[in-house]
Amino acid sequence: MILKVSRLGHPVLRRPTEPVSPEELATPAFQRFLDDMADTMREYDGVGLAANQVHVGKLAAVIESEAHPKYPDEPPVPLTFLVNPVIVERSPETVDGWEGCLSVPDLRGKVPRSRWVRVRALDRRGKALELRAEGLFARIIQHECDHLAGGVYLDRMPDLKTLSFTLEQARFGGAG
Ligand code: NI
Repeated sequence: MILKVSRLGHPVLRRPTEPVSPEELATPAFQRFLDDMADTMREYDGVGLAANQVHVGKLAAVIESEAHPKYPDEPPVPLTFLVNPVIVERSPETVDGWEGCLSVPDLRGKVPRSRWVRVRALDRRGKALELRAEGLFARIIQHECDHLAGGVYLDRMPDLKTLSFTLEQARFGGAG
């Protein structure tokens, strides 16, 4: 099922989300919700989606980037569910890259992110998961973890001058 996406200004985006218990994670209702999150992300051509972006204040996100036209130079990221994710280590070095967000439609901006992160989470079956991600995968993880803490990528932009409409950014390359 395709869920309604919350847009900037809805308070649910600014509220930190609550951990998911293993019991709740195992329920058919929550499993269906995870499927719905994946369906919704794909429907709107996103590469990640956090639960509060679909009005559910739970610490869960989905990520996937299969040879995405918006990120042609990046290797694909397989469908990954992160439940109760925590970034336990990150590179001190940051890289600037363009980000957009389904809750901030039509806009993109340049955001510095750690080049790599190590994240601990549960997978959708409740199994402990630890992974090290870099490049686009690391960027998406950081973007989604910000959402789950009540943040959006605009909060991380050191210079709002790069903020561009997607169409204009594709056409002109974006300021900066
Ligand atoms: Ni987003």
